[in-house]
Amino acid sequence: MGNRAAHLLLLLVLCYEITMAVGLYREEKEDERGERDVEERDKREEWFLLQNSKRVVKTDAGDMRVLKNYGGRITDRPMHIGFITMEPRTLFVPQYIDSSLILFIRTGEARVGLIYKDELAERRLKMGDIYRIPAGSAFYLMNAEEGQRLHIICSIDPSESLGLGAFQSFFIGGGTYPTSILAGFELETLSTAFNVTADEVTEMMTRQQEGPIVFIGDSRAPRASLWTKFPQLKEQDRLQHLKRMVEFQQPPNQEKEQMTWSWRKLLHSIIGQENKKKGEKAGKSPDSCNIYDRRPDFRNNYGWSMALDESDYPPLQHSGIGVYLVNLTAGSMMAPHVNPTATEYGIVLRGSGRIQIVFPNGTQAMNARVKEGDVFWVPRYFPFCQIAARSGPLEFFGFTTSAAKNRPQFLVGANSILQTLGSPELAAAFGVSEDRIKRVIKAQREAVILPSATAAPPDEEERVAKFERVPKVIKSFGNEMIMGFD
Ligand SMILES: *[C@@H]1O[C@H](CO)[C@@H](O)[C@H](O)[C@H]1NC(C)=O
Ligand SMILES: *[C@@H]1O[C@H](CO)[C@@H](O)[C@H](O)[C@H]1NC(C)=O
Ligand SMILES: *[C@@H]1O[C@H](CO)[C@@H](O)[C@H](O)[C@H]1NC(C)=O
Repeated sequence: MGNRAAHLLLLLVLCYEITMAVGLYREEKEDERGERDVEERDKREEWFLLQNSKRVVKTDAGDMRVLKNYGGRITDRPMHIGFITMEPRTLFVPQYIDSSLILFIRTGEARVGLIYKDELAERRLKMGDIYRIPAGSAFYLMNAEEGQRLHIICSIDPSESLGLGAFQSFFIGGGTYPTSILAGFELETLSTAFNVTADEVTEMMTRQQEGPIVFIGDSRAPRASLWTKFPQLKEQDRLQHLKRMVEFQQPPNQEKEQMTWSWRKLLHSIIGQENKKKGEKAGKSPDSCNIYDRRPDFRNNYGWSMALDESDYPPLQHSGIGVYLVNLTAGSMMAPHVNPTATEYGIVLRGSGRIQIVFPNGTQAMNARVKEGDVFWVPRYFPFCQIAARSGPLEFFGFTTSAAKNRPQFLVGANSILQTLGSPELAAAFGVSEDRIKRVIKAQREAVILPSATAAPPDEEERVAKFERVPKVIKSFGNEMIMGFD
């Protein structure tokens, strides 16, 4: 039958195309692997460096990249790390996400509008601020500054996610790109819900094509869309605007009242909100917390560290995530330690150094050189240490998968668990004399952060010459992803 033959032909063509696509994919893979073969020995090390960041958003106005942690058996709770860059005068259009985010303002200033407990509040965040965005809460991010880029590092906690990719954005605003979630409704439903003509709805739903991050103001936006005008509105109008978008969301005769982020309820509260005095403190949304304003929990001549937990910043409790910041002086090391209750994710903010991680069976899991922008993770229970290069301080920031006080257990140093354990027992365990064990565990007078000139990686050239190669890492800062040998 002619029809059948046509179908068969179509099928063959499709198969061929799929094969071609797969073939191309493989080819690319092999190219990559050809390079990788050389460093097969480092494969294992790469387990603990989050690599292959995926660009999830790229527009002229900014981008967002995500380093995904696939987890596997040794992650108790996988977390992804996101990097958002926004050019001056830009807006990340309102959306909600199926994961909760903890934002850390790396540089620049941000304005975050968040619908929290049915009210919209806008916060100004500056460098060092930590702010939580709960899963399912609508929010926007804005870089309203004239001459300053905004860099944000965020944790993306997928524990409430739909499991589609790293996370799923639901854009409230949009057009052809990004597509607004409203676009999924029937035109008639929308025009009825909005009480405007179908043409008006169509116009509104097709204008935006600049992507999820857009320029605001007139300068760079040829097709002024709904959202490019958004920031110029006064706060009251912004609320009104968001309200209208949200109204779309829920045609009046649909019942979704039970949902926690009930748009209906939200509408009412926004209307209520409009009568209130505007200002920074509007809404019940918790304030941000600045990490640089805090005093270190620990400090000595070799560096300092601080940890932020739910007692310092209550919103962390909802995420079950803690935040920390460490600054090691050149050549110092964080003494070998273990996190008994949390997996740790770290992002190198400044400097370079080494991360050593040990498997539970006492073999080395990783000894990788890291530098600014690298992201590493350390599974719960795995002993590890960070060592700053001799060339300068090593500053790293990160998240732990526990909002409760994370009490690292130090294996070496004046406060180590070896000090706490009795020396007769240790002597028996190590099979050496008690005198010997006492001498060894008492020799280090410092605790937590130790001087370590000999263990610190020397200059980079020297290192490369000595070891020929070090693990391939991907730079995570800046606009471009840099891959290759170090
Ligand atoms: C719809 O709009 C018309 C006029 O534009 C107005 O008279 C009418 O009351 C509106 N209906 C609703 C339900 O808001
Ligand atoms: C980290 O320490 C270095 C000096 O060792 C200092 O220059 C730098 O400003 C510190 N970083 C922070 C964030 O305090
Ligand atoms: C130690 O554990 C790791 C991870 O499970 C494994 O890859 C390695 O082969 C083990 N080494 C020894 C000596 O058992």
